[in-house]
Amino acid sequence: MKFFVDTADVDEIRELADTGLLDGVTTNPSLILKSGRDIVEVTKEICNIVDGPVSAEVTALDYDGMMKEAAVLSKIADNICIKLPLTMDGLKACKALSSQGQQTNVTLCFSANQALLAAKAGATFISPFIGRLDDMGIDGMELIEEIRVIYDNYGFETQILAASIRTVNHVKDSALAGADVATIPPSTLKALVKHPLTDKGLDAFLADWAKTGQKIG
Ligand code: G3P
Repeated sequence: MKFFVDTADVDEIRELADTGLLDGVTTNPSLILKSGRDIVEVTKEICNIVDGPVSAEVTALDYDGMMKEAAVLSKIADNICIKLPLTMDGLKACKALSSQGQQTNVTLCFSANQALLAAKAGATFISPFIGRLDDMGIDGMELIEEIRVIYDNYGFETQILAASIRTVNHVKDSALAGADVATIPPSTLKALVKHPLTDKGLDAFLADWAKTGQKIG
């Protein structure tokens, strides 16, 4: 499973990239707002830190506007992935950009039929929003499971990118459901490593090691 980080905070991205565990980055207009940075400037900086796909989202609602914005964003770096909304115009732009060899991420997916359309439009990634479905009392993980079955039934190569991840269990359940990628907020990504028994075990080993009076090397 690939791990993307869902943020436009370059310090967080740099810290996580340094671990060697990061495969890409996703941003959206809300995350750009949170960063307080210019979209082109901050996205360029992110692309210099991470080799994998960096999703940058268009904000136009019509096909021509999306294509114009995609042209600007795709010039930022070779690893830019154009993020498009799950609307008819977004799918049309996805089809056109994917046909040109541009990486695409179709976002705001809340149903299996929407995911099927995105795959037919040649999307590189489909982003089902788990947390926002859970917020409504709908099991977001069922959506991942349905998309997995549909994509496997027809051999679609579109990768399932579990988005709107809020908890460590969302990450585990997405992996169990066969998502190809999870895009995870920095705090949740860092929380994946934590376990109280790891800390307790480490303390005990270090205490015993001190009693040996030895040093390695
Ligand atoms: O990747 C999409 C994500 O940023 C949305 O997350 O928590 O705003 O639903 P959230």
